[in-house]
Amino acid sequence: KQIIKLGLMGFGTVGTGVVRLVQAHQEDLQKQTGLGIEITKILVQDAEKSRNIGSMEGKLTTDPAELLEDPEIEVIVEVIGGIHPAKDFILGALERGKHVVTANKDLMALHGAEILNKAQEKGCDVFYEASVAGGIPILRALVEGFSSDRITKMMGIVNGTTNYILSKMSQEGAEYADVLKEAQALGYAEANPTSDVEGFDAARKMAILATLGFRVPMKLEDVDVKGISSVSKEDIAYGKQLGYEVKLLGLARRDDEAIEVSVQPTLIPKTHPLASVNGVFNAVYVHGEAVGETMFYGPGAGELPTATAVVSDLVTVVKNRKLGVNGRGMVAPYKEKVLKDDSQ
Ligand code: NAP
Ligand code: HSE
Repeated sequence: KQIIKLGLMGFGTVGTGVVRLVQAHQEDLQKQTGLGIEITKILVQDAEKSRNIGSMEGKLTTDPAELLEDPEIEVIVEVIGGIHPAKDFILGALERGKHVVTANKDLMALHGAEILNKAQEKGCDVFYEASVAGGIPILRALVEGFSSDRITKMMGIVNGTTNYILSKMSQEGAEYADVLKEAQALGYAEANPTSDVEGFDAARKMAILATLGFRVPMKLEDVDVKGISSVSKEDIAYGKQLGYEVKLLGLARRDDEAIEVSVQPTLIPKTHPLASVNGVFNAVYVHGEAVGETMFYGPGAGELPTATAVVSDLVTVVKNRKLGVNGRGMVAPYKEKVLKDDSQ
């Protein structure tokens, strides 16, 4: 049986889900791609830590070179998070001609241009579906499903942790600090949950959505951000009395002159579909000039939902590899001309 070998960087919430899905769906993945998928090595920070999946113990390493310098490893799945050292690992992988799948929105929002340009230079795929809205395949939808349309507006609940917190505060009168701890224990929050509660995580996701949806490079510093740390139970109760739910809402809109992207706690009328998106669920509303209104809904964080996005990207990389078309993957419009013009 022909096998494609991958190196997994990170074995926390998402990494564990990736291993579980690849193991559970091995046969089906092979049917879809024509190749067996083998997780050859797993990079972690602490090799002594006890893990939920025993069968992987012999594959753990703390040395990135064991993955990067292994010529048999063709794909790197990066689910460490943060900028350093993830950025160096990803650029190192691309430099060596390895394809990359990542869930890292911090990195893609800040350094997406550098990474995607390097991928193009090396003829490698980089996919990052899991970086926005967990299990909802929204990036593919924007790049492929709306390629014939002009998107004018996107609104999104794109952070699971804050939506979990606001929902529990609204529905159960729970305390902010207690629910944040719960969200951390469930694996929804970032390593530093300030990113979640201060809106930075949602801002990074909105920058990625705007870049892919509007097909223009969107700079993170141009996103106006306000988080939920100053939203009180009283604010939420008062809003409810008036017929509103408080949600951390990302908004991206454009007209002929400008693009505006923001993240802020927003009062949403209870009759609006976004008001009933609760718990760890996310939703992205997309308005296209031709299609009109569309809405995407699903789990925005957590082990298996996020892993579905990562492993689906992996399937695309493997299919591309089988067809010999790697390097033509989801390319953000970070530079003016990204695709070769074959017409002349
Ligand atoms: P996590 O549970 O904290 O896991 C991080 C993993 O990376 C751990 O296995 C850790 O090793 C390893 N690691 C950390 N620093 C390292 C280093 N310097 N060298 C080698 N390994 C290192 O994180 P996560 O929740 O799985 O998130 C991973 C990525 O997915 C992040 O970019 C996050 O934003 C994104 N994401 C997460 C979710 C979610 O629901 N959690 C959803 C969508 C996207 P040890 O195990 O030894 O500590
Ligand atoms: N911390 C993020 C969230 C993980 O809560 O939405 C998913 O990107």
